[in-house]
Amino acid sequence: MPSKMKTTLLTLAALFAAAQAWIVNEGTKCFLYPESLTHFNLPVDDTESIQKAFELCGTNGTVIFTKYTFHVASVIKTLDLINCDVELHGDIVFSTNVPYWLSHSINVGLQNQSTAWLIGGTNVSFVGRGGLIDGNGQTWYDENRDNSNQPGRPITITFFNSTNLFVDGLSIIQPQFWAIFVSYSQNVTMNNIYVNATTNSNYGIVNTDGADTWNSRDIVMRNWTVQNGDDCIAAKGNTTNLYVQNVTCHGGSGLTIGSVGQYPLTPDYDENILFEDITILGSMDGTYIKTWQGVNVDDTGNGGAGGGGSGLVRNITFRRIHMEDVALPIQITQCIYTESGSDICDTSRMQIRDVTFEDISGTSRYNIAASLHCASLHPCPDVFFKNVSIKSINETLGLPLYNTPLQHEVFQCANIVNQNSTSGIPCNHWAPGDFGQGVSANVR
Ligand SMILES: *[C@@H]1O[C@H](CO)[C@@H](O)[C@H](O)[C@H]1NC(C)=O
Ligand SMILES: *[C@@H]1O[C@H](CO)[C@@H](O)[C@H](O)[C@H]1NC(C)=O
Ligand SMILES: *[C@@H]1O[C@H](CO)[C@@H](O)[C@H](O)[C@H]1NC(C)=O
Ligand SMILES: *[C@@H]1O[C@H](CO)[C@@H](O)[C@H](O)[C@H]1NC(C)=O
Ligand SMILES: *[C@@H]1O[C@H](CO)[C@@H](O)[C@H](O)[C@H]1NC(C)=O
Ligand SMILES: *[C@@H]1O[C@H](CO)[C@@H](O)[C@H](O)[C@H]1NC(C)=O
Ligand SMILES: *[C@@H]1O[C@H](CO)[C@@H](O)[C@H](O)[C@H]1NC(C)=O
Ligand SMILES: *[C@@H]1O[C@H](CO)[C@@H](O)[C@H](O)[C@H]1NC(C)=O
Ligand SMILES: *[C@@H]1O[C@H](CO)[C@@H](O)[C@H](O)[C@H]1NC(C)=O
Ligand SMILES: *[C@@H]1O[C@H](CO)[C@@H](O)[C@H](O)[C@H]1NC(C)=O
Ligand SMILES: *[C@@H]1O[C@H](CO)[C@@H](O)[C@H](O)[C@H]1NC(C)=O
Ligand SMILES: *[C@@H]1O[C@H](CO)[C@@H](O)[C@H](O)[C@H]1NC(C)=O
Repeated sequence: MPSKMKTTLLTLAALFAAAQAWIVNEGTKCFLYPESLTHFNLPVDDTESIQKAFELCGTNGTVIFTKYTFHVASVIKTLDLINCDVELHGDIVFSTNVPYWLSHSINVGLQNQSTAWLIGGTNVSFVGRGGLIDGNGQTWYDENRDNSNQPGRPITITFFNSTNLFVDGLSIIQPQFWAIFVSYSQNVTMNNIYVNATTNSNYGIVNTDGADTWNSRDIVMRNWTVQNGDDCIAAKGNTTNLYVQNVTCHGGSGLTIGSVGQYPLTPDYDENILFEDITILGSMDGTYIKTWQGVNVDDTGNGGAGGGGSGLVRNITFRRIHMEDVALPIQITQCIYTESGSDICDTSRMQIRDVTFEDISGTSRYNIAASLHCASLHPCPDVFFKNVSIKSINETLGLPLYNTPLQHEVFQCANIVNQNSTSGIPCNHWAPGDFGQGVSANVR
């Protein structure tokens, strides 16, 4: 924006400030300015102005976060927007008042998770124009002390109940928890997204998923870069018709279907999902499908209580995936959170079928490329490997693998209906049902 125009707007803004905080409302456009500009740069909460701007311009209008830093110390709820464009020229920074967020984050209906910003409507666009969202996550990484899901720890932004949603150029740094959640939405396009959770302390960045989808359909995600400490992109229950293309995942735990089958009363259906042209670097997992076991247990040590849910995972394709230094490149498990020697791992009520891994290349951190265990109660038909070539880093360097007699790459299988016939999977080992998602040594 030309500086002269900016000055005019600022003058206008100053005039309007008393009456309606920091919104300059020009016709269908609402220009937002942060309170800090009139408060000696102090981080005064801008939530009220933001809410007001969406009230004024949330229908047939444009909400413009101008090129300043906005402070958000309260939950934001901007729903039922209609034909609304949101432009992010400046930065939105969330406060670190942990007790406030733990008691005020908005529940999103899945796993008792909650969010700091719930946004949605019909024909909504949210476009980054040089600005970003900063979740100030270091505080959360430190206070959570490497523990798992923490009730009330907020998802940065949740797109909810939306039809025809277009998100472009959104950057989220230091998300408090999951960065992006998409729920109860359809026809969602999210392109050119950047998520980066990095810790500078001894505590890790657990649960900083890039994006999770749930109860949503017809979703396209292209051109993403994610650096984080959990799922890069995860299709949770009732994700249908998801297309993900051109994503680079750094660290974290890769591309995920699930976890699904957590709740006995609500079946999960994940169908028609395609990931392609993806690079996965230094991650714990690469491409995987994870369901809970069929018995409901209170396994609070990992992911909360659950299991016993039914449903279907069908028509899933991972194509043109390149991995480097991934601990567990390919996995199907039906007992994701019941690790180390459980006898209930073959009980899953979820059916998995029609899964293709195609043109998968690169290196594994250990001697294992794939662990595919379908529950004996529900063997998986039509699982295919086409041109899958993964070698351990040591094999590529001509070095032996430490502390294992298995010096060849392990592809372990169990209960894949076509594993000995059409699958193309070079099964050379038995896959235990309780093989976890966290691999930290060579298979022996
Ligand atoms: C918004 O625009 C639509 C289509 O142009 C129109 O039908 C509707 O009345 C408008 N709504 C408001 C509140 O102006
Ligand atoms: C949403 O956009 C579509 C296509 O432009 C339009 O037909 C429809 O009326 C819009 N919906 C609303 C609620 O304005
Ligand atoms: C659900 O989350 C709320 C906070 O968001 C917390 O007070 C409550 O204890 C949680 N419930 C369970 C069962 O974890
Ligand atoms: C979802 O959006 C529709 C309009 O598309 C609205 O009528 C309904 O109230 C919204 N539901 C919730 C729970 O917000
Ligand atoms: C889907 O949403 C896009 C905006 O991302 C819109 O242009 C398109 O018209 C929508 N498609 C349908 C079928 O409404
Ligand atoms: C993520 O942020 C860290 C710290 O700022 C930086 O070193 C790293 O390069 C970033 N990662 C990506 C993929 O941009
Ligand atoms: C993906 O990024 C490339 C390079 O910046 C760009 O040309 C292309 O338009 C982007 N695709 C989408 C869908 O935005
Ligand atoms: C893929 O997405 C990245 C951004 O994550 C972009 O820089 C790159 O140009 C895209 N590649 C293509 C071929 O569109
Ligand atoms: C998924 O959709 C089915 C209906 O298609 C519904 O019965 C079930 O409750 C949904 N699951 C969740 C977790 O909402
Ligand atoms: C499988 O999913 C793809 C999209 O990834 C879709 O084009 C195709 O029609 C689906 N096939 C079936 C049989 O549902
Ligand atoms: C790879 O070889 C190095 C050097 O011999 C060894 O220290 C390391 O443990 C090996 N890595 C694995 C995964 O076995
Ligand atoms: C595949 O062959 C192995 C080894 O002979 C056998 O243990 C396994 O039961 C067979 N699996 C299937 C699904 O046929």
